[in-house]
Amino acid sequence: MRTADIIIIGSGVAALQLARQLASDKNVIIITKSSLGHGNSRLAQGGIAAAIGGSDHPFYHFVDSVIAGRSMNNHQATLMMTKEAPHIIRELETDGCAFDYDEKGSLALGKEGAHTQNRIIHGGGDQTGKVLMDYLTQSLPPHVEIFENHYVFELMTNEEGRCFGVKSKDASGIHKFHAPHTVLATGGCGQLFASTSNSSSVTGDGMALAYQAGAELTDMEFIQFHPTLLYIQERPVGLISEAVRGEGAVLVDKNGTPIMENVHPLKDLAPRHVVSQTIYQKRKNGENVYLDIRGVDGFQERFPHITNLCLQYGVDMNKGRIPVAPGCHFSMGGVKTDMVGRSTVEGLYAIGEVACTGVHGANRLASNSLLEGLVYGKRLAKHLQNGSGLSFQSKETNEKRKPLPFHLPVKTKIQERMMENVGIVRDEQRLVNHLQWLESFVKPSEWSEYDLSMLTFEQMTRMFMLQTCWLITRSALEREESRGGHYRSDFPEEQLDWLNKQIIRQRTLEMR
Ligand code: SIN
Repeated sequence: MRTADIIIIGSGVAALQLARQLASDKNVIIITKSSLGHGNSRLAQGGIAAAIGGSDHPFYHFVDSVIAGRSMNNHQATLMMTKEAPHIIRELETDGCAFDYDEKGSLALGKEGAHTQNRIIHGGGDQTGKVLMDYLTQSLPPHVEIFENHYVFELMTNEEGRCFGVKSKDASGIHKFHAPHTVLATGGCGQLFASTSNSSSVTGDGMALAYQAGAELTDMEFIQFHPTLLYIQERPVGLISEAVRGEGAVLVDKNGTPIMENVHPLKDLAPRHVVSQTIYQKRKNGENVYLDIRGVDGFQERFPHITNLCLQYGVDMNKGRIPVAPGCHFSMGGVKTDMVGRSTVEGLYAIGEVACTGVHGANRLASNSLLEGLVYGKRLAKHLQNGSGLSFQSKETNEKRKPLPFHLPVKTKIQERMMENVGIVRDEQRLVNHLQWLESFVKPSEWSEYDLSMLTFEQMTRMFMLQTCWLITRSALEREESRGGHYRSDFPEEQLDWLNKQIIRQRTLEMR
């Protein structure tokens, strides 16, 4: 058994930002199920949103975030994040993070969907995540201990319901780590869907772990589908950043006719759910959709990574048409937290995509996700730095004993069913059928009875996938309206009654 002051599960932007800000008198452990930084953060293309341009203001950034979020945002948290954004960027810049600059020597500011201003800071052209992760990794202090290839399969709680550490498994066996503070920074759940921009490791584990520990989760029905994944032979092979449309690319049908013309006043830069739903309908009618990039000056220099990706898959860049389709990109919901990242379980925190801080509402504004990780990583570090190492009772409430009595469905089956039944367009019938399918493997009230330590990494993943799928499907069934990343064809309008009404999922509620 190992002890620490702070355990961080995950190793993306939020995790590393937190770890590097904690002083050396704290004993900090990072546990990651793959290798350090292998996840979504490194894949991020577009950038980090911050109101630093001459005509911009954090309040405008706040308003854009709330409009994209269809007013489901926590206003206090969103305002705080947009106000802290310029400071976070200046701090990174001063420390030497290699952002891109314009010809006048100022930070280059790109534009993305639903932003009224140019405010996207980027690095390496279209490799902002890589630039940021390289910077954060090299600035990680030596006192941070890293455990790679450790799969956390349980959060330990005591009789008072307090979290006091984790159980993990690696090639050598089972390990226990005790700490007064355990932080989930495990990312989202994009891999629950057949079409996704997310890294293979992003399977929703953190959400399932938090639920089992008794934490409240909220807004799980709000899933963002990015409009433009590169689509080759009916399968997604990578992301085509929204920044491409920000530089003038236009979505067209096979005849070259723009498809967003009369759909939304912001046309190709409309909020993501609007663009994704438009492309989805076209494709459902058998029409392919393309990004026409002929109007983008210096495409290859501005988007070197995307250019390479397209060439790798045989896209003829001289024709200037990139085949695209939507795919799951981001989870707005997650573990409900306060303004510093505390969950509703004492000793358990959540930051980054696994958390629901309320800053994204029903649909995240482009380039607000790296920002959220940076802002909340820093805020939680400050909170934990000032806190004391509280004493706690480390006797577990429920030793789990039962071995799994059933077979788990294969990963691709789960992903295909989620895409079909809980994807861009949902309805009651499909949600009910899918829920029954999920419950036919294991009842939610029984999830916490099983001993996962005997499972392989692969089986653990599938078990957590089923659980997080259930949380999303159940929430999508309950929200009888359409808003942001949640579209119900049987309730196609936004309903005032549902405004700011959050659907909370908590194990104790489900068991009643
Ligand atoms: C993109 O570059 O389009 C993705 C950025 C984001 O999701 O914020």
